[in-house]
Amino acid sequence: MPENILVAVAWPYANARIHAGNLAGAYLPADIFARYHRLKGNHVLMVSGSDAHGTPVTVRADAENTTPYEIYRRFHDGFLEIFQKVGLHYDLFTTTHTRNHFKVSQAIFTALKDNGYLYTDRQQQWYAPSLGRFLPDRYVEGTCYICGYENARGDQCDGCGNLLDATQLINPRSKIDGSTPELRETEHFYLDLGKLQDKVIAFLRERETYWRPNVVRQSLGQVLAEGLRGRPITRDLSWGIEVPVEGWEEKRLYVWFEAVIGYLSALVEWSHITGQPEAWHSWWFNPQAKAYYFIGKDNIPFHAVIWPAQLIGAGERFGEIFADVPGKSLTLPYDVPANEFMNLEGKKISGSRNWVVDVLDFLERYDADALRYYLTVNMPESKDTDWDWVEFYNRNNGELVATWGNLVNRVLSFAYKHWDGRVPEPGELRPGDREILKTVEAGFDSVGDYLEKVQLRAALGEAMRLASEVNKYLDTTGPWFEVKQDKAQAAKSIYTAMRCIDSLKVLFSPFLPFSSEKLHTYLGYEAPLFGSQKVETHSDDLGEHSVLRYLPESAGGRWEPSRLQPGQAFQKPKPLFRKLDASIVEAERARLG
Ligand code: MF3
Ligand code: ZN
Repeated sequence: MPENILVAVAWPYANARIHAGNLAGAYLPADIFARYHRLKGNHVLMVSGSDAHGTPVTVRADAENTTPYEIYRRFHDGFLEIFQKVGLHYDLFTTTHTRNHFKVSQAIFTALKDNGYLYTDRQQQWYAPSLGRFLPDRYVEGTCYICGYENARGDQCDGCGNLLDATQLINPRSKIDGSTPELRETEHFYLDLGKLQDKVIAFLRERETYWRPNVVRQSLGQVLAEGLRGRPITRDLSWGIEVPVEGWEEKRLYVWFEAVIGYLSALVEWSHITGQPEAWHSWWFNPQAKAYYFIGKDNIPFHAVIWPAQLIGAGERFGEIFADVPGKSLTLPYDVPANEFMNLEGKKISGSRNWVVDVLDFLERYDADALRYYLTVNMPESKDTDWDWVEFYNRNNGELVATWGNLVNRVLSFAYKHWDGRVPEPGELRPGDREILKTVEAGFDSVGDYLEKVQLRAALGEAMRLASEVNKYLDTTGPWFEVKQDKAQAAKSIYTAMRCIDSLKVLFSPFLPFSSEKLHTYLGYEAPLFGSQKVETHSDDLGEHSVLRYLPESAGGRWEPSRLQPGQAFQKPKPLFRKLDASIVEAERARLG
């Protein structure tokens, strides 16, 4: 029975370029996982979009003397380009700035309100007398009152990872002009997390055995240690989603309250675009559906605690008011496989200090699969990792090129030459041939098991180990010598190696889709392994928005062993990967800073 799998990917703020660390943290693991499940025949929807609202975007607009709308459009278009070039197959990459998202967010708000999980309260908020306006949390920086880190943001501390109460910041200063703000009173809606606490704890307890330790620590651990208190979910801002309550026209929904709702609204939008308006029910109103959230560690509290609380609190009321579907609660997260951070050459990545590997810039000089390979073997799954240009160079030349690329190239070139571009007829296989086939084919279980547990480094390591086994097999059988004495023996070795390569092509394909697709063509197949992508523009009363969409129709790949037939015509191969020159290390280091 195919499963319904939601691959929910963090929504990048539309205020900065995407760098290699962002890919390693959330977007790439999501794509690998989604590709695997599609090959398995599951019903996958992978969605995300630009996080268009909130102060991250308005801060940048203020700094550049333009509008938040212009900022969001510019960065959003950049994301669409990057994701196509890196091969991230989003079923839908949209934005929070759509009428659809506004409506879904307002419906969640109303459902929470109807269920008694919202209340209003007055709070102190930093106000800048110099500007004559309230300063949202992100506009205020100061010293963290928990760990003492001096550049804590009002909403969250990058020193200790805790969510903060901005009013308690020590030595506050305005991000706009450096002035010292004062506290004034303002009224907001609050999410009553205290009332939801027991249900949230029960939800987390059901998952603690299989969640990553860091995620359990930052969710269940923190809730048990500190308890949950109400949090304001509206802001004094003009950019964003209106609060659907009379008299609240001047305020907006808090960006973190509404952005996570994008995981739901994106499926609603996808259903409309694909002409099956109720399709999203099979993921969102289905207790069997599994939702995986791919995020970086700085997003854990919002996804593992607050978002589940929003979903639990909205409960069946959401289906009633939004979809006329009674008696259905919303699907809670199954797993939140958050990654840690990737640093660069020993220091924290920083776009503003040019200490980054910018994705589009990187792709001017290297291939997407070289990037995907290095990011995966170095993925920060359980601790922070470091992008090191020497290691990039070594892994590319020593593993991708030497182990996998050369295996393909020497076997296919040799076969092409000696058997006229046809897969050789092997006759009866020898025990050693059968053994290596069995070893490689067992990879569909072993690599698959790691992928299902979202242990992507281990999964890719296992596929590479199997490629080495095939190299060893060829060292033993030596078809290059066999062919001179007894071509029939060489035919057995080459046929066997080609079948192994054909299987390895699938095992590598979630990680290295571009080269696997090429190899698939070299081997003489017509239907591609994966579908294609396209950008479309839609419009509503908020304006036009472009989306990136995966089209699965042409995909023919399956997560199963090769059935390569003797006699099948194949093409003369070209190298799958590029060997790099040692000089790139110094050249790349010179670009930093
Ligand atoms: N924009 C946030 C960030 O980049 C992530 C938001 S994930 C969402 O940290 F689901 F809330 F949108
Ligand atoms: Zn701190």
